[in-house]
Amino acid sequence: MANWPFLQNGKPIHITSADGVFLYTDDGREILDGAGGAIVSNIGHGRTEVADVARESVLKLDYIIPPWNCDEREALVERLQKSWLPPEFNRFHFTSGGSEAIESAMRIAQMYFAAKNQPEKYKIIGRDISYHGTTHTTMAIGGHQARKQGIEHTLPTYPIIPTPYTLRCDSDKPAEFYVEAFQRILELEGPETVAAILGEPIIGASGGAMVPPDGYWEGIRELCDRYDVLWICDEIMTGFGRTGTKWGYEHWPVLPDFIISGKGLAAGYAPINAVFSKNTIAETIEQVPGLAVMFHTYGSHPSGCAIADKVLEIMEREDLVSKADSLGCVLEQKLQSAFSNHPHVAESRGKGLLQAIEVVKNRSTLERFEISDNVTGRLISKCFEKGVHFYGAGTGIVRDVVLIGPPLTINESHVDQIVNVLSDAVDDVMQEIN
Ligand SMILES: Cc1ncc(COP(=O)(O)O)c(C=O)c1O
Repeated sequence: MANWPFLQNGKPIHITSADGVFLYTDDGREILDGAGGAIVSNIGHGRTEVADVARESVLKLDYIIPPWNCDEREALVERLQKSWLPPEFNRFHFTSGGSEAIESAMRIAQMYFAAKNQPEKYKIIGRDISYHGTTHTTMAIGGHQARKQGIEHTLPTYPIIPTPYTLRCDSDKPAEFYVEAFQRILELEGPETVAAILGEPIIGASGGAMVPPDGYWEGIRELCDRYDVLWICDEIMTGFGRTGTKWGYEHWPVLPDFIISGKGLAAGYAPINAVFSKNTIAETIEQVPGLAVMFHTYGSHPSGCAIADKVLEIMEREDLVSKADSLGCVLEQKLQSAFSNHPHVAESRGKGLLQAIEVVKNRSTLERFEISDNVTGRLISKCFEKGVHFYGAGTGIVRDVVLIGPPLTINESHVDQIVNVLSDAVDDVMQEIN
C-alpha cells in the first residue's frame, strides 16, 4: 500500500470516482457529498463539458508566465467582470491556492500604503474565530488554534478582535458590541498604523456558518472609511453563490476593498483562486516605479482559467445562485425542525447552502463536550457510515460543529437525506457518549 498521506492516522477513505452529487468508495458504496468535498464542488462531479474544456485547453496552450495574456485568461476576466463582480473590481491576481491568494492580498494592501508614502500603515487586523490558510502568515493571522499546534511559537502576532458569535454573546446589542471591539483596537494600535482588516463575511469552517448580526459589517465598513483601512473580504468559501447570493457580503449593504475567492471559482475542477481588487488600489501601486505584485509560477494557469470560465458559464446557465438561495431556505427550515428542540444541539445556523449545527453537552448552559470526546470526528464518521459526507468545523476552542455545504445542484430529496442522516447520527453519538 502507498505511503499516503504524509502522516498516517488510520486508513484513509479511498474514493474511486464521483458523479453528480455522489462519491463512490473502493468498497462499492455511494456517498452523498453533503460538503462538496471541502465546500468546493458547487456544480457537482463528473461534468463532461468541463472535462472537454480541460483536454482542449491543455493541448492548445499548456503554460505561459502569469503576466502574459492569452484567450483563456481574457475570457475568464471578461466573464467575471460582466456577470460576477461589482464594476469597481477590475484588477485580478490569480493564484493556485487560497492561502496564496490571502497572503497576496495582505501584501498588496501593505504595498498600497507604501505607495501612498505611508509605510507605517502596514498592520493587518485578524479575528479570533477564523481560518485564512496554512502558510505561516495566513496561519498566524487566522484564529484556528487546533491547526497551529506545534508551530504556534514560531508565528508572528497580529492584532486580533472577536468574531461575531451571537450564540455565545451576552450583549443585547451584538452588532455594536463587536464593532466597538474593532474601534478599540484601531485606537489602541493607532489607525495611522493599520492597513487592513481581514474577515470572511460569514465564517466558514473555523466556526461553522456563523452569520454576523445585521449592522456588523455596516459598522466595520464605516470605521474602515473613517480611518482609511481596507477590508480584505475572504470569500474563498462563501463566494460564487454558496450562501444564496453571488458573494457573502451582499447580504448587507456594504462593499469590500478586496474580494478573495477560490473554492467555487473552478468548483474543484482546477486549482485556481483569485484576488479581485478595486482599480484605485492597483492604480496607486502602479504609479511607483519598482513596486510589483510577484506572481506564483502556476498563477492564472491557462487551463485553470478555461475550466473556471466553463464552470461559471454552467453556474449562470443553470441559475445555481438562485438555487442555492431557494434550496438553502428549505435546508435551513428542515434543520430547524429537526434540531430546534434537540437537547444536544445549541443551534443550526447559516445562509443558503452553507449551514451548520453546533452540538453541546448541555443546551441551556451551552457547556461543550471535552475535546477528548471527539464529538466532531465521531459525528463525521457516523454520517459517512450512513452514506453522507459532511465537513468537521471548529477551531478547537469552538468545537463540535458539523458544516453542510453540498453541491448547489442537489434536490429536495438530497436535502431530506442530509437532515435525516445528520439527525440519526447526532442521536447515535449522544447515546454512545452519555
Ligand atoms: C475561508 C478560507 N480562507 C482561506 C482558505 C485557505 O485556502 P487553501 O486551503 O486553498 O490554501 C480556506 C480553506 O479552507 C478557507 O476556507
